[in-house]
Amino acid sequence: MLITNQETKINIKYLENLSLTQDEVKEVMEGLTSIPKSLPPKYFYDALGSELFEKICNLPEYYPTRTETAILTNASKEIVEITGICELVELGSGSSTKTRLLLSAYDSLGKPWQYIPIDVSGEILKNSALQLHQQYNNLSILGLVGTYEQALWQLPPSCLPQRMIIFLGSTLGNFTYEQSDDLFNEVRDILTVGDYFLLGIDLQKPADILENAYNDSQGVTAEFNLNMLSHLNRCFDGNFDINLFKHQAIYNQEKTQIEMYLYAQKSHNVRLNKLDLDVSFQENEPILTEISRKFNLTKMQDFLASHKLKTVKYWTDENKYFALILTQLI
Ligand code: SAH
Ligand code: AVI
Repeated sequence: MLITNQETKINIKYLENLSLTQDEVKEVMEGLTSIPKSLPPKYFYDALGSELFEKICNLPEYYPTRTETAILTNASKEIVEITGICELVELGSGSSTKTRLLLSAYDSLGKPWQYIPIDVSGEILKNSALQLHQQYNNLSILGLVGTYEQALWQLPPSCLPQRMIIFLGSTLGNFTYEQSDDLFNEVRDILTVGDYFLLGIDLQKPADILENAYNDSQGVTAEFNLNMLSHLNRCFDGNFDINLFKHQAIYNQEKTQIEMYLYAQKSHNVRLNKLDLDVSFQENEPILTEISRKFNLTKMQDFLASHKLKTVKYWTDENKYFALILTQLI
């Protein structure tokens, strides 16, 4: 589906198929039949999930959003001075709230330019694109609703001499090492030499700060985690009872990652009709719904460099909780 308005310079393109793809069926089937059970984190993000994520961003315990906002507040002008006008492609743009700091800096150049937000959650992408259009006169917006993989290979050629792909919020932390390797390879293949990639990453820190951030006292993260089961019920005609599961996040010191789980509160069976799948749960059996890796800045720069993405500059906060790395394809 394509919503186009030439006059207002907004296009929203829905990339997903109306029917389930083979990959979607395979990843959920494999996750629920493996030991331990797991589910892909993209299922957090239906309209309610995106709203709950916005609430998480404002929780006192969830330091990443306000820390990255502070870094972007300081760095945006300098980023624009380094890159000059360029087309911005954002992976997992969500509400684009933090991105506005960058968008305002680019818009102040007073030249026409383009922003391409990519997100699997259609409602939030559409609403934020409409708001951005009202705010920025020089901006044309092409919103792509779909997964990173779907969107990246359907990206039109850049309409400006330079392009920057941005990936904020440490959403990279929700990727396994192998998935981040694949993503960086794709980024390298899409960019041309001299183009930029801007990455926000959450850094390693004491376990209690991390565990508090993912087990907040108001229970919003628990609601966000459980909502994945309601979303799966809709996608796969399932009968998960969210009252039979309990949220818990733990920090795995060895893997330097938060692991979010849903624990079955008693032994029971769940059916997903569209997968023709019956899943049995033992009492206290976990489903791993998300990893959130915490990074070492130097190692990440090396990893980026191994994909020909050379650090131009990085910024961090005084606690060294979070970092923003601007890289250029060499
Ligand atoms: N960049 C924003 C939002 C981060 S939340 C910030 O920093 O605050 C992660 C975002 O990625 C959500 O909006 C979610 O809908 C989107 N997302 C998650 N998995 C995705 C996938 N596989 N493909 C595309 N978008 C995805
Ligand atoms: C989107 N992503 C970077 C968040 C994170 O911190 O890993 C998702 C999240 N999960 C629980 N709280 C926030």
